[in-house]
Amino acid sequence: MPNIDQAGMFSLAGRSVNRLGYGAMQLAGPGVFGPPKDREAALAVLREAVASGVNHIDTSDFYGPHVTNQIIREALHPCRDDLVIVTKSGALRGADGWWNKAFSRAELVQAVHDNLRNLGLDVIDVVNLRSMLDVHGPAEGSLEEPLTVLAELQQQGLVRQIGLSNVTAKQVADGRKICEIACVQNLYNLAHRDDEALVAELAGAGTAYVPFFPLGGFTPLQSTALSDVATALGATPMQVALAWLLQRSPNILLIPGTSSVGHLRENLAAAQLVLPAEAVATLDRIGTAGGTHAAA
Ligand SMILES: NC(=O)c1ccc[n+]([C@@H]2O[C@H](COP(=O)([O-])OP(=O)(O)OC[C@H]3O[C@@H](n4cnc5c(N)ncnc54)[C@H](OP(=O)(O)O)[C@@H]3O)[C@@H](O)[C@H]2O)c1
Repeated sequence: MPNIDQAGMFSLAGRSVNRLGYGAMQLAGPGVFGPPKDREAALAVLREAVASGVNHIDTSDFYGPHVTNQIIREALHPCRDDLVIVTKSGALRGADGWWNKAFSRAELVQAVHDNLRNLGLDVIDVVNLRSMLDVHGPAEGSLEEPLTVLAELQQQGLVRQIGLSNVTAKQVADGRKICEIACVQNLYNLAHRDDEALVAELAGAGTAYVPFFPLGGFTPLQSTALSDVATALGATPMQVALAWLLQRSPNILLIPGTSSVGHLRENLAAAQLVLPAEAVATLDRIGTAGGTHAAA
């Protein structure tokens, strides 16, 4: 089993978590809809992740829907005290699987109760408000109303901390006027660097930045430069992509997703991969700040 301690720790929701965590979205069926093809394999991935030292798991009740949380409950309940589970609210799946905005008070209250029930918890460590102003990426607009509802649920003791996902720097700043923001979860990886300034700002504030699609998401990263660096280091491209994120900023927490124990082991082993400066320089050239992403 890989030793993930070398990835280091960072504070999340008042707890210290390993910087190499796990994202559970891939445990649902195709298109993150319905049950997985192999439920036993999904359970095995979660159990091995936690046995390997992962103590930060990202999920949502809208994965499946309900499926991913129910698998987490079956695999891990009762959860270890040191495990931080982060979930999301703000979306509901249509019958066709589409991701619809669910920002009303009733929908947000329901989402928190659905997460509590399906995860088998009395209180959720972190609930991210996933902005759905534009499903595809951050878009300016007020999140005051839905964030205020989550802050009320926090005051009622159902939620420990609140985070934001798919948001702009302005929405983070505005959100801090309503409640403490424990973490920000946006799209960021070797090839997608729109958030360079936000990562730095959050690092200065001691706030966790949790990139989603750290491996490129549904279409894993492909780049000749990435493959060349991996070959030279005797590592895999996915390990190099994760190691690049780890060295990028100490407040970056990783939640790579996989439905396979083999890929999980490979990804966790990235904790031990140290990138030489020249490799970092090569990898830095794959993506550029400002949103463009060259396929080097
Ligand atoms: N806030 C948001 O809007 C949002 C959006 C998307 C995701 N998320 C969260 O972020 C987490 C990570 O994102 P993600 O899972 O979508 O994408 P990801 O981690 O970038 O990549 C997952 C994909 O890479 C494959 N993969 C994983 N390890 C691999 C390896 N070692 N070699 C080759 N292929 C590998 C997986 O397939 P296999 O299953 O075959 O390994 C899967 O297709 C999710 O699980 C979810 O918790 C949040």
